[in-house]
Amino acid sequence: MSTTNETKNILGLHLPTDPRWVNLAELSLEYILTDHAYCEQKAATSCISLIQRYSELEKLVTDLAPIVTEEWGHFRLVLAELQKRNLKLGKQRKDEYVNQLQVFQKKDGSPEQRLLDKLLIFALIEARSCERFKRLSEGLDDEYLRNFYRRFMESEAGHYHLFIELAETYVDKPTVRKRWQEWLVYEADLMQKLEVRGDRMH
Ligand SMILES: [Fe+2]
Ligand SMILES: [Fe+2]
Repeated sequence: MSTTNETKNILGLHLPTDPRWVNLAELSLEYILTDHAYCEQKAATSCISLIQRYSELEKLVTDLAPIVTEEWGHFRLVLAELQKRNLKLGKQRKDEYVNQLQVFQKKDGSPEQRLLDKLLIFALIEARSCERFKRLSEGLDDEYLRNFYRRFMESEAGHYHLFIELAETYVDKPTVRKRWQEWLVYEADLMQKLEVRGDRMH
């Protein structure tokens, strides 16, 4: 698959996924589905944690409550796909991508800065997941799987927009935009450093 401008600029990401990744993922379907399942589980779990931590933020709680259900629904879809193919849900693996993103989070900033980074890290993971699903939905040989991933792509794009919207609800827009650009630069650098592996969603 060629690198189009569209994939290059998807949701503002600075670096498109290495085109070799789709082919590697295709060769290790059991591992990529397992890793994907845990990404969905972590998305659901992390949304629950945000709700617990920021219970006083009414819009955040209201908007994220249905996302928990949606992400868990995604987990169940991936699990069903594994089972249909007689593949096993393996063990969760170390998530180098998310761990490295967390390094960049402001841990000693103001409460507002900490909230902003939490929301932007969600937005970023959603954006990159969306880009990866787009790659799979365009680059896999199997038509069924291309459609399977297209649905995830659309859903995670919606989540990306929601997290940006939440950030702009609680933090002024210029601050959100400035910090988002810093995150995009950091993430592109991180993507370049990470090994291209077919058994990882990120
Ligand atoms: Fe999801
Ligand atoms: Fe999501």
